Amino acid sequence: MNSNASSSVTPEQPADANVEHSCDVLIIGSGAAGMSLALSLANDCRIILLSKSDCNEGSTRYAQGGIAAVFDERDSIESHVQDTLEAGAYLCDEDVVRFTAQNAKSAMEWLIEHGVPFDQEQADNGENRYHLTREGGHSFRRILHAADATGEALQITLNEAVSQHPNIHIFERYNAIDMIKSQENPDRCKGVYVWNRKREQVEVIRSRFITLATGGASKVYQYTSNPDIASGDGIAMAWRAGCRVANMEFNQFHPTCLFHPQARNFLITEALRGEGARLVHADGTPFMEKFDERKDLAPRDIVARAIDYEMKRLGADCMYLDISHKPADFIVKHFPNIYRKCRSLGIDITREAIPVVPAAHYSCGGVMTDLNARTDLDNVYAIGEVAYTGLHGANRMASNSLLECIVFARSAAEHILSRLDETPAEEPILPWDESKVSDSDEEVIIQHNWHELRLFMWDYVGIVRTTKRLERAIRRIKLLEQEISDYYSNFRVSNNLLELRNLVTVAELIVRCAMQRQESRGLHYNQDYPERAEQATPSILTPMPSNTSPQPGDLTSFEH
Ligand code: FAD
Ligand code: SIN
Repeated sequence: MNSNASSSVTPEQPADANVEHSCDVLIIGSGAAGMSLALSLANDCRIILLSKSDCNEGSTRYAQGGIAAVFDERDSIESHVQDTLEAGAYLCDEDVVRFTAQNAKSAMEWLIEHGVPFDQEQADNGENRYHLTREGGHSFRRILHAADATGEALQITLNEAVSQHPNIHIFERYNAIDMIKSQENPDRCKGVYVWNRKREQVEVIRSRFITLATGGASKVYQYTSNPDIASGDGIAMAWRAGCRVANMEFNQFHPTCLFHPQARNFLITEALRGEGARLVHADGTPFMEKFDERKDLAPRDIVARAIDYEMKRLGADCMYLDISHKPADFIVKHFPNIYRKCRSLGIDITREAIPVVPAAHYSCGGVMTDLNARTDLDNVYAIGEVAYTGLHGANRMASNSLLECIVFARSAAEHILSRLDETPAEEPILPWDESKVSDSDEEVIIQHNWHELRLFMWDYVGIVRTTKRLERAIRRIKLLEQEISDYYSNFRVSNNLLELRNLVTVAELIVRCAMQRQESRGLHYNQDYPERAEQATPSILTPMPSNTSPQPGDLTSFEH
């Protein structure tokens, strides 16, 4: 069922023209979520797939541990559900958890059909089966993986399929700036303003359906396991367009990132602990039994807090992760990339412990969606890390994220396909107005605000919070918002400016949610409210109603 919508989808247009592209479905983001959706739709409609860097760059590519799904006959969907609810500190939406666990196996089979090379092993009866590893919070081995570089295998495989499909047009180095609301129906968007980084000009993409697949927002913190693209753009865009967001206070800190001056953002997978690695002090003493009976395989929030506590108590720069008691060939076979990376930095993980620290890793909150991945706007969907589906509650269980990307990409696809016959009225779109802006002459402001924001988010809104620190953070955010807004009104956009504008919005959403929650639960620990409340609900923020599209200078205000 090909749509009649016209499409001028080549980015090669003369500079400075009022360039407009059009398609049936615009997918913003080319990670596991965006690419899976594109592949699920492409036989039936024309797609533009947008990526603000090269299309393989995103958190997906760096995923290590794997993807959770029940494949072992001793395991059960009920066990996957219960583990997810418990890791999520009982703030998950149980229907969503069940939906995801039930659809996990078929989602993995879909990936396998597309050629994702999950590791296999020989069973006792001589047959091949998938090798399943284990991570924190899981009662069974249920993680499919491709050695310790699952994300790379996934991204490359999906990219190959996407690049070959004639209906998918990939636009690399394009930043989505803002969605353009319909004047006739304020619940719809008619397109998106995008910044073509190669030509340094703002263009329009008109689309019947828009899907945000922009990943998370962990770059709002000084130390993160995430790549540079993780600046929460989709969350900020959805908020400005009028969508509710939820549970932003639950930013997950991964317990074990490599601590080394020459290693930026390098994760040491939790699967190491799944295969027997222990967290130890510099003298080799294990410490996790002091914090949880599950020791090193406790859920992430507990392990990250324990490491933070021990580092602060001992005044230490890092803790250590030790797998050197396992045979060297086992370590090299299961963790070849980590072995190589550490070796290149002079650390032999078959003989010595790895220095590790926690770092911001995953946004459990995001744009509110239903089981079809629909947001509050009728033709706008959100999938992957940008979305809040209700799956993760107060703490995501390991390897449930890539799973959510695939399961919800498939359910969004089904829903969009069922609506392809709808024909919304074509409305004109005003070109981007640059008449009042000039080239930036003060890049230093962006650099400075960028560092300041990420540093105080780390110090005041990190693993352990207090109400005073949150109040301090919000005061600083307000000042930064004003400066960034002035800057945005006066100067032409750039990648750094667009990301900073989004990061400051996301920072405010995180702090607002954190201030609403008067308890400690999962990833949110506030020393002024150290106990878990008997009953709790998700933190939901609602933007002020507006049916105009944000233009340079706009920062949407809050209603609480
Ligand atoms: P991403 O893969 O992050 O892709 C986002 C895309 O959006 C990119 O293409 C980017 O260019 C694009 N984009 C963003 N903003 C814009 C914009 N304004 N305009 C245009 N394009 C934009 N999860 C697991 O389940 N298992 C694991 O083993 C695992 N390991 C991990 C290891 C690391 C180091 C990290 C960082 C994460 C890991 N996670 C893991 C989490 C998981 O990888 C991510 O949650 C998941 O990959 C997110 O996929 P996504 O498609 O939503 O976003
Ligand atoms: C890891 O491999 O430790 C990361 C897994 C995840 O984030 O789900």
